[in-house]
Amino acid sequence: MKKTILMLIGAVVLASCTGKQTSPQEAVVDNIMTRVSVRQFTDQKPSDEQIEQLLRCAMAAPSAMNKQPWAFCVVDDPELLRQIGDSLPNTRVQNNAQVCFVILGDLRKALEGEAQEFWIHDTSAAAENLLLAAHSMGLGAVWCAIQPSPERIGKLRSILSIPSYLVPLCVIPVGYPAEQPAVKDKWNTDNVYYNAWQ
Ligand SMILES: Cc1cc2nc3c(=O)[nH]c(=O)nc-3n(C[C@H](O)[C@H](O)[C@H](O)COP(=O)(O)O)c2cc1C
Repeated sequence: MKKTILMLIGAVVLASCTGKQTSPQEAVVDNIMTRVSVRQFTDQKPSDEQIEQLLRCAMAAPSAMNKQPWAFCVVDDPELLRQIGDSLPNTRVQNNAQVCFVILGDLRKALEGEAQEFWIHDTSAAAENLLLAAHSMGLGAVWCAIQPSPERIGKLRSILSIPSYLVPLCVIPVGYPAEQPAVKDKWNTDNVYYNAWQ
């Protein structure tokens, strides 16, 4: 019996000593591959430091000609959160979110002419950065569409008094997950082409 216990302890020690270390590159890929949309949250609010870190990650996104045509509204006022959740149930804010981020395009900073539409690409890159950063911090989040629905844009404009030069792209509630959705395997070689269609 004593010998068996010693062997077990030895096995655990050996496993921990020889255990494969996760490289930074593997950690980044793992974070991307395990992110899921989280739509139910606990009562615990993300800290101010976490909120700032999320904003920093969002603003690190690429943007066309580095125009950074974006603005971010952090909503943690309970009455405003209630109004957003009631008026825009697709935002999942009603599912106990203690904070949500509104990501907006700033048309004053956007490129001109047909390139103005790049604001959508730029703010989308910021949104994805925020989602991945939240996941890496143990937080849950979900991208909830506002643009291109005039009705949703109008409702959010009214609730948050958003000026006309800002266009809300999406709402992202962020919090501690109260659900653990399964990761979806989206790998599909049918989506991949090499060089040209023939
Ligand atoms: C442009 C866009 C709009 C979305 N809008 C909503 C939404 O309004 N409400 C919602 O609950 N999820 C929304 N989602 C989340 C998707 O439903 C989710 O990403 C998709 O089902 C894949 O699941 P996953 O994020 O867990 O991989 C949206 C995602 C994107 C990229």
